[in-house]
Amino acid sequence: MAEPARILQDQPLLAVESLTLRYQTHAALVTATEDVSFSVERGERFVLLGPSGCGKSSLLKSVGGFIPPASGRILVNGRPVTGPGPDRVMVFQEFDQLMPWKTVLDNVAFPLKVSGKAKTKREAEERALPYIDKVGLTKFANSYPHTLSGGMKQRVAIARALAMEPEMLLMDEPFAALDALTRRSMQSELLRLWEEFHFTLMFVTHSIEEAVRVGQRIVLLSPHPGRVRDEFRPSPVEEARALEQRIESMLFTDGAGI
Ligand SMILES: Nc1ncnc2c1ncn2[C@@H]1O[C@H](COP(=O)(O)OP(=O)(O)OP(=O)(O)O)[C@@H](O)[C@H]1O
Ligand SMILES: [Mg+2]
Repeated sequence: MAEPARILQDQPLLAVESLTLRYQTHAALVTATEDVSFSVERGERFVLLGPSGCGKSSLLKSVGGFIPPASGRILVNGRPVTGPGPDRVMVFQEFDQLMPWKTVLDNVAFPLKVSGKAKTKREAEERALPYIDKVGLTKFANSYPHTLSGGMKQRVAIARALAMEPEMLLMDEPFAALDALTRRSMQSELLRLWEEFHFTLMFVTHSIEEAVRVGQRIVLLSPHPGRVRDEFRPSPVEEARALEQRIESMLFTDGAGI
């Protein structure tokens, strides 16, 4: 029998196995995803790509522990996910995910204190400041969210997530509400942060271009209900544009756009 430490090393950080997710509404039982399986390695930049309504957000929330499987299972480090935890931190698309009554510093420090990762408010602030610096917002540490641009608010949300030093950073279309130029610079910034911290990223988008820029591995989901359609690894030799076209033509042979 292999020793436990060895088993831990060999297994993926995240394993999603035959996952089906359903919503019960007053009118019907909606299947969001069906029989979806994939795994994510530690330190990997993993992207879930698919058309609107294929269940990307549902999958991410399920990995976050907010939606229980209808069938199948989700394992983190080999243990089933039973609810949310500080090992999986989410960043959303909406700019209003910050607490408006707290400063940038307090927004980043607060979860550290609440989760017990920092014992005192002072320790939480000391741990928060380097991450605020990493996203270029040191000058705004004492500002309130309503005085920041959308891109700056997303930077705060990213700093807050990274400060928790989670096992996985779960991002649901975090740049979708930004203008094209800010979106591009935020993608570069995320890649730069990844180069430095090598966090495990699970990133959801319906933009093929964004998927190819951000992902080391892309899982493509089919339209509603989402099933795994294919998997891609953008490689340095394959021109990004060529891969974008390959994915695009696959999607449109389904007769369904993104
Ligand atoms: N709370 C809910 N109650 C009922 N049905 C829901 C709920 N949330 C999502 N759904 C349904 O589940 C399916 C998947 O939704 P989901 O939001 O996960 O898709 P998505 O891929 O994230 O789409 P988008 O790209 O538009 O964000 C859709 O058919 C949606 O209508
Ligand atoms: Mg969504």
